[in-house]
Amino acid sequence: MIYMSVTIGTPLQTSAFKVLLLGSGELGKEVVISLQRLGVEVHAADRYDHAPAMQVAHYAYTLNMADAEELKQLIQQVKPDLIVPEIEAIATQVLVEIEQQNIATVIPSAKAVNLTMNREGIRRLAAEELGLPTSAYRFADSLESFRAACDDIGYPNFVKPVMSSSGKGQSRVKNFDEVDAAWEYAQTGGRVNQGKVIVESQIDFDFEITLLTVRAKNAETCEIETQYCDPIGHRQDSGDYVESWQPQAMTAAALEEAKRIAHKVTTALGGCGIFGVELFVKGDKVWFSEVSPRPHDTGLVTLASQFQSEFELHARAILGLPVNTSRHSVAASAVIYAGVDDTNLSFSGLNLALANPDTDLRLFGKPEGFKRRRMGVATARAETTDQARQLALETASQVSVQQN
Ligand SMILES: Nc1ncnc2c1ncn2[C@@H]1O[C@H](COP(=O)(O)OP(=O)(O)OP(=O)(O)O)[C@@H](O)[C@H]1O
Ligand SMILES: [Mg+2]
Repeated sequence: MIYMSVTIGTPLQTSAFKVLLLGSGELGKEVVISLQRLGVEVHAADRYDHAPAMQVAHYAYTLNMADAEELKQLIQQVKPDLIVPEIEAIATQVLVEIEQQNIATVIPSAKAVNLTMNREGIRRLAAEELGLPTSAYRFADSLESFRAACDDIGYPNFVKPVMSSSGKGQSRVKNFDEVDAAWEYAQTGGRVNQGKVIVESQIDFDFEITLLTVRAKNAETCEIETQYCDPIGHRQDSGDYVESWQPQAMTAAALEEAKRIAHKVTTALGGCGIFGVELFVKGDKVWFSEVSPRPHDTGLVTLASQFQSEFELHARAILGLPVNTSRHSVAASAVIYAGVDDTNLSFSGLNLALANPDTDLRLFGKPEGFKRRRMGVATARAETTDQARQLALETASQVSVQQN
């Protein structure tokens, strides 16, 4: 048996084990806290100052991570052991080169980051190479080809810019009359490389889940093994998550199929870390929707439900350490929005929100709020998921946001 272990030095000294986080949102912030607890030196980057994860990292950098030159320079300056992308809008080609030249390890792998930043890459891998069940789909890069794709797929359908997330530029097209407006809207929501969209047939699901799937090394054999958290149910509003709960009840056959799909897609993407595998479920039938090669927003619920949250699981897995995916409680999470477009916001009502001993809060510390920007999350534990959802929603609603 081979006993290999990662060695972690002392932060801020020459022996430091360094992680460079690309994207410093609320999910990254929790990953940083988990890494800090294990003595890792953390460098956090984003496009604006004082982003959530920057506030808990050793070093912070503000730059345009979609710019290949700026990104390369940052990597040369920091010389990280691991590069941990937290968002999709980065110059992923640079990461492919970094991995090829053995300069740093890209988490979970450059291939995973590169394929999932574009809906076309991951959809073709899942459906065409791996043969996984998905909605019917077409790609289009002009109004004309888009009209044809919509007619081919039928109505209602879902239209999404191939490079977008959190529902940006996304719409549900109910009939031919809505086609041109959907094209216009998609053109405003894409990240980079504007133009190309995916048209997907609507899946008539009973519910949707995120199956958090961890690829981590076995402590003794050092072989990478796949482990699963209990399925997380969630509700989306305009393509953005508003509440989630764990566990989501499903049939044994559907759970087995969900794990089969998650295993297949995460094995193809490779590397170590957590993946959020998004699936649609109807009875025993399961469809693959998409996958994040990193913690998932709906997985914030694991802060309240698991011995190791999805953030601790990610931190451990990327360091080559063993993980425990088990759940100790039934829990739910509900999002707290800014409700206004302003900076320098204040939050009150926290005493009431936290009066129930089974509730908790995270306030992300974002310097600027927008009406629909996520500023925090409430979590709650209860006997059943319905009770936990209700308590989490109540807790979130007790927090009020004020302008200064
Ligand atoms: N083909 C489909 N059939 C039915 N519902 C769909 C389909 N595609 C998307 N949806 C609904 O829209 C939501 C958002 O879609 P998707 O996950 O593809 O977008 P996204 O922008 O990547 O969102 P996020 O970044 O929040 O995960 C899904 O969770 C689902 O509720
Ligand atoms: Mg999604």
